[in-house]
Amino acid sequence: MSKPEKELIVSKIKNGTVIDHIPAGTALQVLNILGITGREGYRVALVMNVESVKLGKKDIVKVENRELKTEEVNKIALIAPTATINIIRDYKVVKKVKVQLQDIIENIIKCPNPNCVSNLPREPLKPKFRVVERTPIKLKCLYCGRYITRDDIARQLH
Ligand code: CTP
Ligand code: ZN
Repeated sequence: MSKPEKELIVSKIKNGTVIDHIPAGTALQVLNILGITGREGYRVALVMNVESVKLGKKDIVKVENRELKTEEVNKIALIAPTATINIIRDYKVVKKVKVQLQDIIENIIKCPNPNCVSNLPREPLKPKFRVVERTPIKLKCLYCGRYITRDDIARQLH
């Protein structure tokens, strides 16, 4: 019980998902990705800028009665590449996975270049980017070479 995160700031949850080790200040973007507004009625806890051994500071999101789809986990990896997803059942962590940022990002975000072949109105190609930098994240469109930054990504994942 010596790790700072063990001094619980919010209580444990019974069933649901804890997204831990989120880069400090990005928890709201994670909630956006999950489409959580608070109006769903589930209990949600959001902690920002708490001490972390690994990260210095981190955010945590706890969502009751909700497990994440692969698609959502892939989006979270773009915004919070250090995140750990903990599935909680009956108060126990039954599964813990670290999100993974692939080298090629397919079909998650669109190229911001309106003239890119991936944006053709008739026969659009599925958007593909290469990860050229990880922190801070920077992607390059495989079709037109346009770079996209973290802010572009965050804007799209709303
Ligand atoms: N947690 C929770 N409710 C539970 C169980 C765990 O909110 N019923 C939270 C913990 O507070 C922690 C996260 O889920 O933020 C992961 O729990 P655990 O694996 O027990 O903690 P650590 O060992 O510190 O995790 P890690 O090794 O990933 O840092
Ligand atoms: Zn492009």
